[in-house]
Amino acid sequence: MCSPCNHLRCLLVHFFPTFIFFLAKNLLYNLHSTNQQMAFKHKPYHAAVLLSSLLIISSSKFLGAKVLNYSSTAYLSTLWPNHPSQMVNTTELASVTPILLRRTDGPWFMCGFYCNMDGSSCLFGVLIFQNLNSAFLQFPQLVWSANRNNPVPTHAALQLRQDRDLVLINFDLTVVWSSNTRGKPVSGINLTDTGNLVLFGRNNETIWQSFDHPTDSLLWGQKLVPGQKLRASVSELNMSQGLFCLSVTPDALMGYMESNPPQRYYTSRFHEGHSFEFNKGRLYGWDIPYSSSSQFLKFDPDGHLKVYQWDGMHWRQVADLLSPEAGDCGYPMVCGKYGVCKHGQCGCPDAANYQSNFFRQIDSRHPNLGCSALTPISCDYAKDQSFLELKNAYYFAFDSSSYNHGTGLDECKNSCLNNCSCKAALFAYDGNGTSEGGCLLLNEVFSIINNENHAVSVHNTTLFVKVSNVKISKRSKVTLAKRLKELKEIEMDLLDHLPGMPTRYSYEMLKKMTENFSRKLGQGGFGSVYEGILDNGTKIAVKYLDGFGQVKDSFLVEANTIGSIHHINLVKLVGYCSEKSHRLLVYEYMANGSLDTWIFGGTEKSPLPWHTRRKIILDIAKGLAYLHEECCQKIIHFDVKPQNVLLDQNFNAKVSDFGLSKLLEKDQSRVVTRMRGTPGYLAPEWLHSAGMTEKVDVYSFGVVIMEIICGRKNVDWSMTGENSHLLSLFKRKALEERLQDIVDKKSEDMLIHVEEAVDVMKIGAWCLQSDFTRRPSMSLVVKALEGLVTAETNINYEQLFMQSSSICIRWQWYFRRRLFITE
Ligand SMILES: *[C@@H]1O[C@H](CO)[C@@H](O)[C@H](O)[C@H]1NC(C)=O
Ligand SMILES: *[C@@H]1O[C@H](CO)[C@@H](O)[C@H](O)[C@H]1NC(C)=O
Ligand SMILES: *[C@@H]1O[C@H](CO)[C@@H](O)[C@H](O)[C@H]1NC(C)=O
Ligand SMILES: *[C@@H]1O[C@H](CO)[C@@H](O)[C@H](O)[C@H]1NC(C)=O
Ligand SMILES: *[C@@H]1O[C@H](CO)[C@@H](O)[C@H](O)[C@H]1NC(C)=O
Ligand SMILES: *[C@@H]1O[C@H](CO)[C@@H](O)[C@H](O)[C@H]1NC(C)=O
Ligand SMILES: *[C@@H]1O[C@H](CO)[C@@H](O)[C@H](O)[C@H]1NC(C)=O
Ligand SMILES: *[C@@H]1O[C@H](CO)[C@@H](O)[C@H](O)[C@H]1NC(C)=O
Ligand SMILES: *[C@@H]1O[C@H](CO)[C@@H](O)[C@H](O)[C@H]1NC(C)=O
Ligand SMILES: *[C@@H]1O[C@H](CO)[C@@H](O)[C@H](O)[C@H]1NC(C)=O
Ligand SMILES: *[C@@H]1O[C@H](CO)[C@@H](O)[C@H](O)[C@H]1NC(C)=O
Repeated sequence: MCSPCNHLRCLLVHFFPTFIFFLAKNLLYNLHSTNQQMAFKHKPYHAAVLLSSLLIISSSKFLGAKVLNYSSTAYLSTLWPNHPSQMVNTTELASVTPILLRRTDGPWFMCGFYCNMDGSSCLFGVLIFQNLNSAFLQFPQLVWSANRNNPVPTHAALQLRQDRDLVLINFDLTVVWSSNTRGKPVSGINLTDTGNLVLFGRNNETIWQSFDHPTDSLLWGQKLVPGQKLRASVSELNMSQGLFCLSVTPDALMGYMESNPPQRYYTSRFHEGHSFEFNKGRLYGWDIPYSSSSQFLKFDPDGHLKVYQWDGMHWRQVADLLSPEAGDCGYPMVCGKYGVCKHGQCGCPDAANYQSNFFRQIDSRHPNLGCSALTPISCDYAKDQSFLELKNAYYFAFDSSSYNHGTGLDECKNSCLNNCSCKAALFAYDGNGTSEGGCLLLNEVFSIINNENHAVSVHNTTLFVKVSNVKISKRSKVTLAKRLKELKEIEMDLLDHLPGMPTRYSYEMLKKMTENFSRKLGQGGFGSVYEGILDNGTKIAVKYLDGFGQVKDSFLVEANTIGSIHHINLVKLVGYCSEKSHRLLVYEYMANGSLDTWIFGGTEKSPLPWHTRRKIILDIAKGLAYLHEECCQKIIHFDVKPQNVLLDQNFNAKVSDFGLSKLLEKDQSRVVTRMRGTPGYLAPEWLHSAGMTEKVDVYSFGVVIMEIICGRKNVDWSMTGENSHLLSLFKRKALEERLQDIVDKKSEDMLIHVEEAVDVMKIGAWCLQSDFTRRPSMSLVVKALEGLVTAETNINYEQLFMQSSSICIRWQWYFRRRLFITE
């Protein structure tokens, strides 16, 4: 019965921040209640949780100051939300969300999210740095990145999914990048000691590696093979792909501009079989100075190929490897587009020729940014175009060995003039006194080399730059703006129709459906819930998540977890909305609200009869059994309580609120996680065990059984002494064999069925055992409730929900101190 889960996005979530948020809320709530210290003597559960929350909150302040302690491998299936936690000391302010860390005797490597300071733009990738001896990462360098063209904000996440794909998910659940390894036998991810991010299989074989997908850098041991290329960034600050490319063919290394068509500026031939592998002291033909410290090779935004080495303080350039024929003037963007390079100085094409002003510098303080035409060339005005003739100008992409000699000068000029996409023509006279020579047409004009002193050995060349004398009206600008708007709309449309997702709604639509969020149904864990109506008349419940980062994770987890599971006893997620700061989840409407309003009294609702309570208990059990056992992955809910059980119009109970849930692989039995859940429903193993199993849900379910049958909250401070704690009361009554005393007698029907109720309470006791290995699985509970098996009877009631009293005392002590300090 695996089919319902095949599309399930499987997560294992580091859910720390949500939990803090959650605990902090509880804490604040409790701080406002009176008589704190007295109360805590009798409230080990509360004390434990509140204390942990305080400790966690206080320690989180110092996260940055901790020695980085991250592993270098991870396994299926894991999700890492992007919460920058590590400050970076670099030229601009930045922060990092570490995911994997590899220490070596030389450089250290980290993979994670690298963010700008406000977290609005983050790249997932690999960083190199020279160890860490302060709270700040010192000048880490991004040597590989998955999403350089698509930065994501915080609240995006990296996920190594159950389907074996490594994916980068944006905050709105769109997939930004994927390793495309779905279905391959990936079993984990490893950051190696050379800085290679590897997806490996069962026998540690490499299935995917970042070294095969270089961006703009190479690390020691990394090889560039034919078919691969380095692509420089747009600039030092914008890591998007720029135009500069460096690629190898079987017999040459080539640097070129990725224009249309590509324009080459550097070629170096080598013997076949030569490999372009970066290593200590060498890179194909070059000797590279190196000391024992770390190095990396980077193809810079200006088209230079440089080796950087850590000198103890900074990354210092130790080699600049390419050497174009025209020297520095031979780099295509040395003076920007249309800029003229002369002895390393930049100017514009017409300045030296005393012609009318066709060009001006884009920025007079930065001549190397290039020049722009005063009147852009337009195909609509081809008749009014002419050439600006630049004698002794040369162009980097001209390769004298590959042009056709003997082309007539006029033929060359005309073929450019008659071709709309041609922006300039370079003509190289053959040198025998005629006007014949070689002709190169350019669709895009990068920097022009002033060749007056024959810097380049090709003599007597002239560049004809196409210019226009016509002033263009503003009309075309308006149409351009309109076109851009259309494109944006198309893009939004594409986002809306991603397969496998619940329906995406716009905020405006949801606002309309809920009539401006006017009918509030209740207040959930992370936000308010409102009633709404779909266009087809179906009622819905819209949860509006309020809060910041933590809430957005809960959104991601919830949408991912229940987006594609369908079970009669689990609340169905119909859709979601993620727009600007708005996060909303759309559920099926549950006419009769949450279970707590029916069992805890205090409302006008009449007490539930026995058969209804019994059905509700069975429904919850079935929902949980499905989560734990009938999916391909095991889902632990972690927050089972009456507030998270909803009732539809037919009184079917459905489990909801998956914001804290976690997914496990079928063969994985435990998950290590920060404490999560709700005080009063937390299993005792939270206090001492590292790995949590689905049996924590079984325990919480046991508490819920008791609450349903006894018609009261587990912890009720309106009662005195032992009575305030239902489970303690239960324990005593069980030992006295007087369980019928605590059955809810608000409804007469319950009195009639008191024995049956006591039997179900015993199933509850089975679930509440301190030793979680003795608790039944949920499917066994279902069978017991259906009368197919009998619940274990030799339960040691003395041992139910036991705690180490010494630990309790210590908590109380800590808590009081904390309370004092806080106030
Ligand atoms: C790092 O983590 C490991 C395992 O989680 C733990 O044993 C070790 O004490 C931690 N070290 C520091 C310095 O936190
Ligand atoms: C950042 O690095 C510089 C140069 O290494 C150093 O002087 C400065 O103290 C560092 N700042 C921090 C906060 O580590
Ligand atoms: C991970 O990388 C390290 C260092 O390169 C290597 O020793 C180790 O075997 C790798 N682990 C796996 C599971 O491939
Ligand atoms: C895979 O690598 C890990 C870590 O290096 C090692 O412990 C394990 O034995 C290796 N497994 C196989 C099948 O080689
Ligand atoms: C980075 O460069 C790309 C490509 O030129 C551009 O589309 C993008 O807007 C730039 N990003 C920023 C933040 O400037
Ligand atoms: C000029 O030289 C080129 C080759 O350098 C040759 O193809 C062409 O025929 C010559 N023209 C004349 C008129 O000699
Ligand atoms: C370049 O060649 C043309 C045509 O052969 C000739 O008229 C001109 O003088 C030459 N210029 C130089 C600088 O040699
Ligand atoms: C215009 O020139 C470009 C190269 O500059 C060429 O690819 C294209 O085919 C030419 N178009 C026509 C119609 O000749
Ligand atoms: C919702 O609010 C807007 C203004 O904020 C108002 O124009 C509109 O009539 C309201 N709609 C409903 C159904 O209340
Ligand atoms: C209304 O639309 C929702 C979502 O598209 C769908 O699940 C539901 O079945 C529809 N209801 C009816 C009565 O058509
Ligand atoms: C549950 O909701 C339905 C639909 O709103 C209603 O008809 C029914 O009376 C409710 N059940 C109870 C027990 O109130």
